[in-house]
Amino acid sequence: MKKDTLITYTGRDPEDNYGVVNPPVYHASTITFPSLDEYENRGDNEFDRPQYGRTGTPTQFAFEEAISALHGGFKTVSYPSGLAAIIGAATTFLQQGDHLLMADTVYGPSRIRLANTVLKRAGVKTTFFDPGIGEKISDFILPETKVIFMESPGSLTFEVMDVPAITSVARDKGIITMIDNTWSSPYFCQPIKLGVDVVIEACTKYVVGHSDVMMGSVTLNSSEHYQLVKNMANNYGYHAAPDDCYMALRGLRTISVRLQRHQENAYKVATWLVSRSEIARVMYPALPEDPGHEIWKRDHKGASGLFGVVFTEGNWKAAAALIDGLKHFGLGASWGGFESLVLPAHPEKIRTVNEWPHKTPCLRFHIGLEDPIDLIADLDAGLTRYALACS
Ligand SMILES: Cc1ncc(COP(=O)(O)O)c(C=O)c1O
Repeated sequence: MKKDTLITYTGRDPEDNYGVVNPPVYHASTITFPSLDEYENRGDNEFDRPQYGRTGTPTQFAFEEAISALHGGFKTVSYPSGLAAIIGAATTFLQQGDHLLMADTVYGPSRIRLANTVLKRAGVKTTFFDPGIGEKISDFILPETKVIFMESPGSLTFEVMDVPAITSVARDKGIITMIDNTWSSPYFCQPIKLGVDVVIEACTKYVVGHSDVMMGSVTLNSSEHYQLVKNMANNYGYHAAPDDCYMALRGLRTISVRLQRHQENAYKVATWLVSRSEIARVMYPALPEDPGHEIWKRDHKGASGLFGVVFTEGNWKAAAALIDGLKHFGLGASWGGFESLVLPAHPEKIRTVNEWPHKTPCLRFHIGLEDPIDLIADLDAGLTRYALACS
């Protein structure tokens, strides 16, 4: 089956459900067994069937089956948020005395909450590396390095990593590789094909697609890794609510058309911004002049609607004049929904490997499903306000 066909079939079984097209929402804590014998002999692998609400309902399994199918993975574990998926996956493979290698451009809380808080308290040391490192990652590997954590393109500044170069070094040394694949989603990138062991999605973004549900997923490339991650999720008591799993599966059905349109609109807005003298840089790997363009083209099937810009001159007062007057861009965290958003980005505050070279404001835009003509007109007026505030 081609990918777009697979998306419409996976994770549902109408014949098992009175012909109803979508899987039902099973609300469950208690799950009963017909006999003592079946209860006592429910098997070593307690995750193969519903046992208790916390370890998974049929609605959760349907969602996980769909994400696994799209990624070509062994199985998926779902979580109540993307950050929960990040923490759950990383703490499965890291313990006291271990060393983590993490890209300098990861999503802020992966660095601040996972590496600098949760893992630090647990006695795990982290070294951050330049996302452009490629096979030179080998220079940073210590005997106690257990995990390499990537995100490509990176958050806020959208550097594209050479993932296969890193996974081939890691595999030779028995190091687990993880990636936050949220920007591309399972629709535009399948990192397991690039050699990654553990693929994390903040499903809150493009999988759900409607800015109304928090969900995360971790897809594993093997039975062994799945058992470890699922067990750890159970240790934490992580549970993905059945209504949220249903909504995420429902969102997934239309991810193909949504992402194609996000890409089309974002490309139009990004190329228009490139032409503007107020903008020094547009950080979007789909642009031919982007430094990560060639690797992005090799490893990804498309570009989502999220990119960054850096201004040629000006300050945050001018940025406020631009942002506060926008009609079609909401100001708020998250992205991946149907609507356009803008957010101030401050890479200079969190990066530690390479100093951020710009002193002018940097903004992140999520381009939604509105008509790009309206978005461009809105930004055009915004850039006029920006220039006026600078003069
Ligand atoms: C790249 C990336 N990964 C992970 C997350 C975390 O997802 P959630 O907000 O569902 O916890 C986000 C949220 O913004 C994100 O942008």
